[in-house]
Amino acid sequence: DGVMKNWHGDVHTVLSPICVKTPTGLERRVIGSYPLCGPDEAMESLNAAVAAYADGRGEWPTMSVAERIACVEKFTGRMIAKKQEVVKLIMWEIGKSYADSVKEFDRTVEYIHATIDALKNLDRKSSSFAIEQGIIGQIRRSPLGVVLCMGPFNYPLNETFTTLIPALIMGNTLLFKPPKHGTLLHFPLLEAFRDCFPAGVVNTIYGRGNQIIAPLMESGKINVLTLIGSSKVANQLKKMHPKVNRLRAILGLDAKNAAIITEKADIDLAVKECVLGSLSFNGQRCTAIKIIYVHSSVAAAFLEKMTTAVGQLKSGMPWEKDVFLTPLPEPQKPGYLQSCVADAVAHGAKVINPFGGAANASFVYPAIVYPVNEKMKLYREEQFGPVIPVVPFDDIETPIRYLIEADHGQQVAVFSNDAAELASLIDPLVNQVSRVNINCQCQRGPDIFPFTGRKDSAEATLSVFDALRAFSIRSLVATKQ
Ligand code: G3H
Repeated sequence: DGVMKNWHGDVHTVLSPICVKTPTGLERRVIGSYPLCGPDEAMESLNAAVAAYADGRGEWPTMSVAERIACVEKFTGRMIAKKQEVVKLIMWEIGKSYADSVKEFDRTVEYIHATIDALKNLDRKSSSFAIEQGIIGQIRRSPLGVVLCMGPFNYPLNETFTTLIPALIMGNTLLFKPPKHGTLLHFPLLEAFRDCFPAGVVNTIYGRGNQIIAPLMESGKINVLTLIGSSKVANQLKKMHPKVNRLRAILGLDAKNAAIITEKADIDLAVKECVLGSLSFNGQRCTAIKIIYVHSSVAAAFLEKMTTAVGQLKSGMPWEKDVFLTPLPEPQKPGYLQSCVADAVAHGAKVINPFGGAANASFVYPAIVYPVNEKMKLYREEQFGPVIPVVPFDDIETPIRYLIEADHGQQVAVFSNDAAELASLIDPLVNQVSRVNINCQCQRGPDIFPFTGRKDSAEATLSVFDALRAFSIRSLVATKQ
């Protein structure tokens, strides 16, 4: 209610992936609305963030680390009190299961606590004095300025906060645009932002990205762009900045993670991990396994077991017990996924599992597509949904070459029970991607581990510690002895 109060401009109606029956069929249910800021309101928010930063002389950037931590702790307490409200909105807004929505919330709170602990350590180290060659140096961590922070729809709370919180706690001021699918769930927290931080430090903007982000970037007043999204958008935004060399970009971008199943793999384990890796939250994770290379000698066994495992997954509404497959928030996604499957079939692949690719309104049943080759869209495109392309190989050089030639370089999962084979693969793989998972699926966590990517998959590294470094500069006060 607070968000809409006194608003007379355009309004965005939020449609849930949860559908209702209407006389003409299933339709996405209306679950709320929010104001769509125009360029003027966005610039007002920018000016507020710039004023609060005040060239590094504002209350927030000059506050002691202990005081900033106290503000974030107060905020976290208020956030925890809103848990059920936020969890419910995650389910309704993006269709995430109740269990995963709770996990997303709890993981975010844990991330904030871990960030506070890490900062206490960093501060202890950073404020230590070093004496070298007659110079006493006090090394500090100083903020960077105004941060434009944009998170993704698939982890609208968690991934947003893994950049927003470190940026904030390091003394920067913020403009924060929630993802289009995943805005309402931030509303219960807005009051806490207002109450726990000085005015102008956290500014939330809503609106159509193409209308409000351009003027912000073109102003040249954004010091840090942080976005979890597509490399195409990130590049467009960076180019808008008049002095791009002065812009720090902290980006989590595209990924097409591969699983490689060698002839020496434990097939049951590979199937279990590949199902989780490809289909958790319906495959809508940047870390999802989005293509599977399987050795020809074990392909038939793998596909049969994979089909059985997928057939056992429960589909339904996010709040249903043990549900795994749920409706998709992006309205265009079912059609897009079906076009990818149709394209693969037109080029000679088959949908291996019963009902694979069947869609009903916002729901798409997972499709295992085999054999996929380079002529098909699914070979290179990041499908970001419940479609599993499987490619047979005879020579291990084939999947390695796939990774070398890819535009992405986030993660790979390799399955083998042969230690010597695994050892021989680690270097060729880890020099193509930023994380090699041995006999387990690809994933971001634990959040203390570095999270990044090569090529078009990322810029900068996130982790509890790395994010604190990314959103600050290591500065020095030097005094001659
Ligand atoms: O979408 C990208 C997320 O960071 C993935 O996190 O691997 O823990 O699901 P996750």
